[in-house]
Amino acid sequence: MIEIPHIVAHRGASIEAPENTIAAFRVAGARQAKWIECDVTLSADNQCVLIHDDTLERTTNGTGPIHKQPLSVLRELDAGSWFSDIYKGERIPTLSDTLETLFFMDMGANLEIKPSGCDPVRLCQEVAKELDRAKKLPILLSSFDDSAVAEIRRLLPDLPCGWLLETLPDNWHDGYTQLGASALHIDHKALDPEKAAEIVAANVPLVCYTVNDPAHAKELFGWGVTSVITDDPAKMIAAIPRHPN
Ligand code: G3P
Ligand code: MG
Repeated sequence: MIEIPHIVAHRGASIEAPENTIAAFRVAGARQAKWIECDVTLSADNQCVLIHDDTLERTTNGTGPIHKQPLSVLRELDAGSWFSDIYKGERIPTLSDTLETLFFMDMGANLEIKPSGCDPVRLCQEVAKELDRAKKLPILLSSFDDSAVAEIRRLLPDLPCGWLLETLPDNWHDGYTQLGASALHIDHKALDPEKAAEIVAANVPLVCYTVNDPAHAKELFGWGVTSVITDDPAKMIAAIPRHPN
C-alpha cells in the first residue's frame, strides 16, 4: 500500500482556486500539499476529463451533461470565471494534463472515478490506459460506484483503490473484502470514534472527506484516521504540519 499523505487537497486547493483545474492543483502544491483529490469522467468521445458535476452549468460557461460533449467542445469552455475573474479562461483539464502537472510538481493524487452518466467500465478502461503511461506517480483510485472499484481492481491489480462511502454499512467489512479495496473513504459526518476504531482495528486505511475545520481534523486523527481530504490545504497544513500519530 502506498503511503497516503495526512492531508489531501480536495479538487485541488478548491477554497482558493476553481476546483478540478490545473490552477487549483498548482495552488495546492504551492501550499505544500503532497496530493490532490480530483474527479475524472468521460467526454462523449471517451476522453478522460476532470470535473465534479454531471452537468456543465455550475463550474463552466457550458450547459448540459458532460458526457454528451466531445473534448473539442469541453476544451473551449471557461472553467474559471464562475470562481473569480482572476481565473477567467482556465480550462477543464484532461487526465493527461493533470498527470503531467503532478509529475512536474512531484505530487500524487487520489483519483476519484466518477461515471456521471458515462459507462463506468469504459471510464475505468480509459483511466487505466492513461495511468499505464504515468506508472511512476503515486496514485490512489477511488469510487462510489462499486462496479468501477471492481473493474479497476481487475484492470490495475497493482494500484490501490479506495471504496468511497457516504455512510458505513453494518456489513462494511464483507463489501470491502469482496471488492478487494485498499482503503475506506468516508464522509467525516458519518464517522464516530466507535466506527473509526472498528475500521482501524481491521487494519483498513481510513480517509475522511471533506474536512475543513482543523480542530475536527485533529479529533479524527485521534480516532486513527489516516488522511483527511480538505478544500483548504493551506489552513490544514498550517495547523497540522505532520500526521499527529
Ligand atoms: O473523494 C472524496 C470526495 O471528493 C467525494 O465526494 O462529491 O466531493 O466527489 P465528492
Ligand atoms: Mg471527489
